[in-house]
Amino acid sequence: MQSPLLPHPDRCFIAGDWVKPASGTTIAVTDPSTGAPLVEIAKGGANDIDAAVAAARAAFEGDWGRMPAAERGRILARIGALVQENVEALAELEARDVGKPLTQARNDAIALARYMEFYAGSADKLMGETIPYLEGYTVYTLREAHGVTGHIIPWNYPMQIIGRSVGAALTTGNACVLKPAEEACLTALAFAELAHRAGLPAGALNVVPGLGEEAGAALSGHGGVDHLSFTGSVPVGKLIQKAAADHVVPVTLELGGKSPQVVFADADLDAALPFLVNAGIQNAGQTCSASSRILVEASRYAEVVEKMAARYAALRCGPAMDDLDVGPLVSAAQKEIVEGFLNLSDGLEVAAQGTIADDAPAGGAYVAPRLFAAKDPSHRLAQDEIFGPVQLVIPFADEDEATAIANGTDFGLVASCWTRDGARQMRMARKLRAGQVFLNNYGAGGGVELPFGGRGLSGHGREKGFEALYGFTTLKTVAALHG
Ligand code: NAI
Ligand code: MG
Repeated sequence: MQSPLLPHPDRCFIAGDWVKPASGTTIAVTDPSTGAPLVEIAKGGANDIDAAVAAARAAFEGDWGRMPAAERGRILARIGALVQENVEALAELEARDVGKPLTQARNDAIALARYMEFYAGSADKLMGETIPYLEGYTVYTLREAHGVTGHIIPWNYPMQIIGRSVGAALTTGNACVLKPAEEACLTALAFAELAHRAGLPAGALNVVPGLGEEAGAALSGHGGVDHLSFTGSVPVGKLIQKAAADHVVPVTLELGGKSPQVVFADADLDAALPFLVNAGIQNAGQTCSASSRILVEASRYAEVVEKMAARYAALRCGPAMDDLDVGPLVSAAQKEIVEGFLNLSDGLEVAAQGTIADDAPAGGAYVAPRLFAAKDPSHRLAQDEIFGPVQLVIPFADEDEATAIANGTDFGLVASCWTRDGARQMRMARKLRAGQVFLNNYGAGGGVELPFGGRGLSGHGREKGFEALYGFTTLKTVAALHG
C-alpha cells in the first residue's frame, strides 16, 4: 500500500533514519476487511532493538536530553499540528490496517493530535517543590526524565496509545523506543515520519516493528531501558513485569477489563441507552475500556434488555471503508478468540444480534454483534475479557448486590453508574473498584486530560492527563546545608 506518510513501510525508524531490519525479512500484513494482502512490514528483532536503544540513549545524553522544556513543548506542538493536517491520511491507513470504521479511525487521529497539543502545553509546567526542613537547610525536588523509555503497544488504538504514552514520555524529556503490534504498525511508522518532519531530533523516537516474542521481548528485557510501558493482554503484561523486575525498572501496565455500567431504576434510560450500547460495540468491542457488562436493577431489567436489543438488531457490520457501525475484528486470529467465547455461551439467552452486510467480503474477519441476557454474573462470559462486540445484561436487586457484581471480576479499569440520586452517585463512585468512574455517562468522550489506568488484573500506573507526567519522571530530592 502506498502512502506519502510511509516512505518505507518495510523498515524500522532508528536514529532519524529508515533502516532495514537486521533480519532482512518482513511480516506480511493483511487487510482484515477483505483478508487480502495489504503490505509488508519489517520483522525487527534483538539487533534492531539494540540499535534503537543505543540511538535513544545518544539522544537522551545529547541535544534532546539537554533541550529546555519549552523547546520540547514547541516540537510536540508542531507534531500535533502536522498530525492534525494529516488526519484523513492517518485515518485511512488505520482503517485498512486494522479494519476500524473510517469515522472511528478519524477520531483516533484527531485524539493523537490533541494528545500532542495537551502534552506540548504541559512540558514547561511540571514543577518540583520546596520542602520546609531543619534550620540552615534548603530542600527542593526535581522531576527528571527516566532516560530511555520502552513502549510496547497493541493494535486496538495505536494512535491514541502512542499519544498517551509516547506523548507523555517525550514531553518530560525521555527518549523512546516504540514496538507497535505486528497487526498495526502503519500509523506508528507514519507518526515517526511526521515527528521527524516536525523537527524531533534523531533518536528521540525510534520505532521497531516486529513480533512480540522477538522485538517485544528484546525491548522488555533490554538492560538499557529505564522505564517500560505496556498495553495489551494479561499474560504478556505479566511477562513484561517479570522482565522489568530483572533490571528493576518501573513499569506501567494497562491490561484491559470487564467494565460494568450500573443502571438503577431511577436512571434516565433515554440518555443512557446510546452509551450502554456504544461502549460495548465501539471498535467492535476491541477496547480495553469497553463496557461488556450492563447491570440493571430488576424492576427495569426486561425494559433495558428490550431497548438494547432493538438497537442491536439495527447494527450493521462491514468493511472499514464503508464506515458502518462495526468493522471486522483485527485479524482472523482475533475472530477465532471471540468465536471461541461465543461457543461457551450455554446458559445465556441471546437477546439480539446485529447483521453482517451482504456485500462484506467472505475473507473478512467479521463477527456480528451479540447481546446476551445473563442471570448468572459468574458465567465465564461475564468474567473474562472477550475483546469482541459482545455484551451481557445482568439483573441486580439492590445497591449492595450491584456493587458486589460490578466489583466481582479480577479486573478494575472503568465503571459507570446511572442514577438521578445524588447521594447514591457519591456512594457508588467510592465503592466501584476502577481507575475511572463515570456518573450518568460513559467514557467522557475519551478526554486526554483524564488520568487512566487500572487496578487488579487491569494493571497499574496511570497514563493520560497531567498525572502521566509523574510516571514518566523520577523524583530527586536536593538538600542543601548552607547554615
Ligand atoms: P498481546 O498482549 O500479545 O499484544 C500486545 C503487544 O505485546 C503487541 O505489541 C505484541 O507484539 C506484544 N507482545 C506479545 N508477546 C510479547 C512478549 N512475549 N514480549 C514482549 N511483547 C510481546 O495481545 P494480543 O495477542 O494481540 O491479543 C490477545 C488478547 O489480549 C485480546 O483478545 C485481548 O483480550 C487482550 N488485549 C488487550 C488490550 C488492551 O487494550 N488492554 C489490547 C490488545 C489485546
Ligand atoms: Mg499475543
